Amino acid sequence: MLSLKAVTVPATAAAAKSAETCHSGEPKGFVEEMKSATMKLHTKEQAKEGEKRATQPEERSVAKWEPTVEGFLRFLVDSKLVFDTLDKIVDNAAFPAYAEFRNTGLERSVSLAKDLECFREQGHTIPEPSSPGLTYSQYLLELSAKDPQAFICHFYNIYFGHSAGGRMIGKKVAGKILNNKVLEFYKWEGQLSQLLQNVRDKLNKVTEVSFLYL
Ligand code: HEM
Repeated sequence: MLSLKAVTVPATAAAAKSAETCHSGEPKGFVEEMKSATMKLHTKEQAKEGEKRATQPEERSVAKWEPTVEGFLRFLVDSKLVFDTLDKIVDNAAFPAYAEFRNTGLERSVSLAKDLECFREQGHTIPEPSSPGLTYSQYLLELSAKDPQAFICHFYNIYFGHSAGGRMIGKKVAGKILNNKVLEFYKWEGQLSQLLQNVRDKLNKVTEVSFLYL
């Protein structure tokens, strides 16, 4: 199963790469720039637009993965921790721009709590968050307080990654080990494309205006 390490490394690399270009004065919007940086870190087997050569098992086609329920549960628990942390950061809004990202409809904490409860009722043991999960969440908290530009890059990566490749991964994994059950994690109230567009617009606006003085 995909480890959180595998998930966070491209996020961090994309954030760093984007941080270089965020201030380059190019006319591209933030989201377009982030997406193009992100696709350079995907392999062709992961996404059609991917440009990187696959070297690690998790970089190969998801169809070739051999997921387990235990591994998937670890992923869900760590994901909940990360999404809880994002909620906390935008609720506290250490920088005023973060408040723009409250109640976007993309939040995943409540749906993940339902999924985990459902697994628990079925007799599965829900693990504690892993050490990489805890480390990454702590890193997000610290970053959000001291480097808003970098934090916004992670915010984009987590939500947009989950709604793109994340959904595809969820479907493939459900087909292999969950009898095709669609988890709450992969259901949104309203139209996902519209929710994403609203957040895209806000990200472009906030990065255009706030980055000047943040
Ligand atoms: C490990 C297997 C992965 C697979 C199979 C995968 C697959 C995909 C696919 C199919 C897309 C859609 C590309 C398109 O729009 O044409 C995508 C986009 C994206 N992925 Fe991944 N991905 C993976 C890992 C990751 C990781 C580790 C991250 C970062 C944490 C990530 C972040 C993103 C982002 C930010 C987008 C762009 C979303 C957007 O702006 O529309 N992906 N991925």
